[in-house]
Amino acid sequence: MGFSPPLPTTRIAPERIAPDTWLIHQVQEALGQPLYVYLNSMVITGAEPVIIDTGTIGNRKQWLEDVFGIVDPDDVRWVFLSHDDIDHTGNLTEVMTACPYATLVSSWAITERNANAFDFPLERCRWINDGDGFDVGDRRLLAVRPPVYDSPTTRGLLDQRTGVYWGVDAFACPMPGGPVEIVADLDPGFWGDGMAMFVHNALSPWLGLVDHQKFAASCDSVQALGMSTIATAHSPLITESTIDKAFHLLRQLPEVSAPPCPDQVVLEAILTGAPS
Ligand SMILES: [Fe+2]
Ligand SMILES: [Fe+2]
Repeated sequence: MGFSPPLPTTRIAPERIAPDTWLIHQVQEALGQPLYVYLNSMVITGAEPVIIDTGTIGNRKQWLEDVFGIVDPDDVRWVFLSHDDIDHTGNLTEVMTACPYATLVSSWAITERNANAFDFPLERCRWINDGDGFDVGDRRLLAVRPPVYDSPTTRGLLDQRTGVYWGVDAFACPMPGGPVEIVADLDPGFWGDGMAMFVHNALSPWLGLVDHQKFAASCDSVQALGMSTIATAHSPLITESTIDKAFHLLRQLPEVSAPPCPDQVVLEAILTGAPS
């Protein structure tokens, strides 16, 4: 049996979502379901440009073209890694090689968990914890863990100049039919169901175990950052007018049930080409 290369993703051109702030898009068709999922990352082109997460291996050529079409590799000063999942770290080596003046902002936990997979240039690393901030010339970036996540290394990032918050995997929601730009373009009934499906089945299955009041308080403290926009890896953009609703849906998740996770029956349907 041979292995095929990763399935290609569909390109959507980088999108300017705030001053100096670009969302780097790619879209993947979900396996076994008529749904589409974003695999986004972000670039801040301020005084000291920042790359936030590094795309996927299968989209390497396009991702590097998209990012370095916005910022020159020699100008990049910071690479922020939100966590160690492969859909966020796919081109980390390529970025650190192409950007000789960049410091890698991550954490002890990322380094420790991945030391046998990635040659971290420790002299170019900076470790930050939840709540820590760092200055990037014309703005301060604040690392704040979102309320749901799939790795203990996760840190979101608030740009205190533009108010854009990188929410990492939180608020993840697939899209029926095809990609939409903003969550307001989703069917309102689908948004909550899609978020529950994604979060319970693919992100934070422990959510049903949490103390509801403590979880709500965690959502409150992140929302209290007062962000103007939430950009994430796996959701359409959450613009200012939809932030309250996004947190409302998030707070409800521990009490919301999700459809069962696709199983062997679904896999066999995929293999035989039968409609799911
Ligand atoms: Fe993740
Ligand atoms: Fe992710």
